[in-house]
Amino acid sequence: MEKKRSSFTGRIGFVFAAAGSAVGLGNLWRFPYLAAKYGGGIFLLSYVILAVTFGFALMLAEISIGRKTGKSAIEAYGSLNKKWGFLGKLTSIVPMIILPYYCVIGGWVIKYFVTFVSGQGKAAAEANFFTGFISKTGEPIVWLFVYIALTAVVVMLGVEKGIEKFSKVLMPVLVALSLGIAIYTLTLPGAGAGVKYYFMPDFDKFSVMTVLAALGQLFYSLSISMGILITYGSYMPKNTSIEKSVHQIELFDSGIAIIAGLMIVPSVFVFTGGNEDMLQAGAGLMFEMLPRIFSTIPLGNIIGVVFFLLVFFAALTSSISLMETVVSIIQDKIHIKRTTTCLIVVAGCTLFALPSTLGFGLWENIKIFGLNFLDFFDFISNSVIMPIVALLTCIFVGYVIKPKTLSEEIALTGKFKSEKIFTVIIKYIAPVCILAILISSVLNGLGVIKI
Ligand code: PFF
Repeated sequence: MEKKRSSFTGRIGFVFAAAGSAVGLGNLWRFPYLAAKYGGGIFLLSYVILAVTFGFALMLAEISIGRKTGKSAIEAYGSLNKKWGFLGKLTSIVPMIILPYYCVIGGWVIKYFVTFVSGQGKAAAEANFFTGFISKTGEPIVWLFVYIALTAVVVMLGVEKGIEKFSKVLMPVLVALSLGIAIYTLTLPGAGAGVKYYFMPDFDKFSVMTVLAALGQLFYSLSISMGILITYGSYMPKNTSIEKSVHQIELFDSGIAIIAGLMIVPSVFVFTGGNEDMLQAGAGLMFEMLPRIFSTIPLGNIIGVVFFLLVFFAALTSSISLMETVVSIIQDKIHIKRTTTCLIVVAGCTLFALPSTLGFGLWENIKIFGLNFLDFFDFISNSVIMPIVALLTCIFVGYVIKPKTLSEEIALTGKFKSEKIFTVIIKYIAPVCILAILISSVLNGLGVIKI
């Protein structure tokens, strides 16, 4: 007999749980560095347009697939149509690729937290502190282990609920503190040019890569095309409005990302005069900039301690749900003890995380398609597999099970206001655009066209 699925209590419960998983390093670490790298305002504009169209439609689709079938991704697609079971499997690969390198960044967060706790905040603001740290071999590996171990302990002990409750309280504090830091940064000399860069779209900086980066970020940040929303949907009570929940999650998640960008991007102009190399810094940007901001604030060291602790909790809730997802995918396939599965996942995660961390030091000369390991794993999941999963999901919903099937599920709680838009996006706009973006980025990567 199938076990009855437990469910969230009401919409707020669902929104909080989904937002807790959604808000993480994607908002605080990834969004700001992509915004800096891909032209500021033009990236922001692309992101917002994609969020209210593709993001909205795909979230609706995934959550309603989950609620309709009551199953997690790996089984949900197949239960709606046998031939499409493979899509569930493809989706499940994504958290497996993301989890290891997510833990690498989690390790960096712990390192910065510890640095500030030991009163070394000023040293962390020095120009070569970050590169000096990540190019080492042993130290980043130690922090990586610590981060994986902490995630695994929570998953193994099954105390996620406790951590989530705790982080629910901390999240508003994180938002308020980020907003405070952003406002403070804006008062520093030079910030004006940064704000202009961040908010004013410069169409000369537009390229297909900007849209691809924004699309990948959208998927990453909202946990789309990872199977996770289907699982969340399967726990959602039938009397909770999917449409309203999606609006709230999107607003919350994008709001935090935009605030994080406002905190970090203008600071590049304050501290380096908008240096192009710094704007292109990528994965290290948050770690380069925040200590410099904190070093100019009285009691900045304490703010650093609190801030990195909050980032740590935001990251932890996300890596917990990533690890949970991977553990349950494996458990569904091979029925072994949960503890054994957890240990296998920890071992696999460590093994795959090592190249990502070593890629900044010992293995820095090894490049895959010109990318270091971490950027490669990031690119392959966010810019290749997730768009493919999203494209196939659109075809599946638009032409196999038909949007009506999901519209009915969404309308269980009252009129589905955006039904027409949803149908048009899923059937026509999203698949055509995603395909075009994917093809042009591959051709661009192969050097066939220059965009
Ligand atoms: N959306 C999270 C973030 O922005 O950091 C990442 C994530 C968490 C993805 C949990 C998937 C997941 F299951």
